[in-house]
Amino acid sequence: MTDAQPHIDALLQEERVFPPPSSFAEGAVVSDPAIYERAAEDPEAFWAEQAGRLEWNRPWDAVMEWRPPFVKWFVGGTLNASVNCLDRHVAAGGGDKVAYHWEGEPGDTRTITYRELLEEVCRLANGLRSLGVRKGDRVNIYLGMVPELPIAMLACARIGAPHSVVFGGFSADSLRDRINDAEAKVLITADGAWRRGQVVPLKANADEAVAECPSIEHVITLRRCENEHAFTPGRDVWYHDLVADQSTECVPAEMDAEDILYLLYTSGTTGKPKGITHTTGGYLTQVAATHRMIFDIKDDDVFWCAADCGWVTGHSYIVYGPLTNHTTGVMYEGAPDWPDKDRWWSIVETYRATILYTAPTAIRAFMRWGTEFPGKHDLSSIRLLGSVGEPINPEAWVWYWKVIGGERAPVVDTWWQTETGAILITPLPGITDLKPGSATVPFPGIQADIVDEQGDSVPLGGGGYLVLTRPWPAISRTIWGDTDRYVETYLSKFGPEVYVAGDGAKRDGDGYFWLLGRIDDVMNVAGHRLSTFEIESALVDDEKVAEAAVVSRPDDLVGEAIVAFVTLKSGYEGDDAMAADLREHVATKIGKIARPHGIIFTADLPKTRSGKIMRRLLRDVAHGRELGDVTTLANAEVVEQIREMSESAPAEE
Ligand code: PRX
Repeated sequence: MTDAQPHIDALLQEERVFPPPSSFAEGAVVSDPAIYERAAEDPEAFWAEQAGRLEWNRPWDAVMEWRPPFVKWFVGGTLNASVNCLDRHVAAGGGDKVAYHWEGEPGDTRTITYRELLEEVCRLANGLRSLGVRKGDRVNIYLGMVPELPIAMLACARIGAPHSVVFGGFSADSLRDRINDAEAKVLITADGAWRRGQVVPLKANADEAVAECPSIEHVITLRRCENEHAFTPGRDVWYHDLVADQSTECVPAEMDAEDILYLLYTSGTTGKPKGITHTTGGYLTQVAATHRMIFDIKDDDVFWCAADCGWVTGHSYIVYGPLTNHTTGVMYEGAPDWPDKDRWWSIVETYRATILYTAPTAIRAFMRWGTEFPGKHDLSSIRLLGSVGEPINPEAWVWYWKVIGGERAPVVDTWWQTETGAILITPLPGITDLKPGSATVPFPGIQADIVDEQGDSVPLGGGGYLVLTRPWPAISRTIWGDTDRYVETYLSKFGPEVYVAGDGAKRDGDGYFWLLGRIDDVMNVAGHRLSTFEIESALVDDEKVAEAAVVSRPDDLVGEAIVAFVTLKSGYEGDDAMAADLREHVATKIGKIARPHGIIFTADLPKTRSGKIMRRLLRDVAHGRELGDVTTLANAEVVEQIREMSESAPAEE
């Protein structure tokens, strides 16, 4: 968005509305819509009430201290996150409740109660202290999805050492850069992690990284895959040796509400990864409140957030939110198609999962694989579904609702970011009428708006920049070591009081928010601002299309020409006739203005490891440019294929 065009043209109309089923609404955690008004009238009182559900060592003196662009929450209060996640539940008699049903990819399982989790956390926390880790020291964690991952996070939280989890799928170089930026003292890793029956050599990657990380004093290695790797005496310690003789009790560090709980690096589309920081008091308050209200958490729920702890979704909704709420969770180590494409559904059936939270990219993969896989299992335990990470195409939403939720489970589409720490725009499933493809409305106590290039609010019906106009407790306080970049990126475009999310969005006549993707993904075609996402949704709406990604390329005639990369469902052939057919479909669905100029059929789309389509690479292909950096690609080989396909693409209109 570089010119002064005031708004994004919002063309895709989705008319379906799904009110909460009355059986769901009756017993919902939030059943009175007055919560919105109450929170809007006095957001600080609303958040203070949520914070009051936590256990504090010392109460706060002020709920919020806002000196734009900076904010502090629960000023003067002290607490410990691991105590809130574990000790207080055990003390209240809830130690025997299952914290995690864990399933390894090879089929091994572990059931861990709150008491066991507390003991494991204390042993590792004592072990870390024995290695010299002190309050404020950073600890890096590079593990697969094993129980020791949340254990390690909580052990750090217990002793006040901010953790920095690096997703186990990242390379040695990515790990090295993140360790060095955080100047971590200790790295916790494993010999390997299971993925599609293969061992991901975590320790070997870690060794390569640590060779160039002067701050690292010790590497703690968990034995998981029994694979061969090097061991450096003095520096390297086995996890099992470290915890063997440690006490199952560990005095928790008393942390200030504003002390950093963790750093988490986001790659962003360009530039050096940003070390997003989250605090103890505000963050914990908001992840707990959003988890409880949005996922309608009851004592007997079995909550499965199928993300990886390497991403913020795992931090907030596998670890800190659910444990603070004393919830039983499910964790799965491996790939969804291992050994077959029904693995997730077999997990839902085995543990009687009641709530599933995943990403549109996974849902689209399941759609592509077909209904026979979920059809093999009893999914009747599911009562609520969630989506996060990308705009969800209405067709994917409806498929999820029908096939996985049996037309009875509401789907909560939750908008947020690594930087926001917790969900900000979302339905509350007992009271919100759902519209497929819309994240609906801001959570109580959250103030969002859509503004034009000048920062003026765009009336309902229009689109523009999504902004947040009041701070919320879980907002990231800075980028580690680079506060200027933090302010510049998020809190300067429209002044220091306005947080700019970097996403485009529109609001319909009812005030519902429709996310349109990153601002970068907004095109200007013949003077119209179009969202790549709306065109993608129109393409996916065609029964022959499995997945689509839309980018633009400069064009003399229309400014930016629309290029669509399309993956067809099996049994269909990508030829000129198909391209013409799909163009027509988009024209009918959205309007001629959105009709793609070029369609490129491809067997797959390049994705980041978190499943986001890499539009930057597709843009390079569409522009006929040299390819950019592909190191964060989950499926790097696909780019070359796409390039070959694009060279023989059907003629453009
Ligand atoms: O573009 C938005 C998209 O994901 C971005 C944040 O990515 P990340 O920091 O990796 O966090 C992902 C998990 C919270 C946002 O700027 N996004 C996330 N959720 C949604 C979404 N876009 C549309 N709808 C959503 N529900």
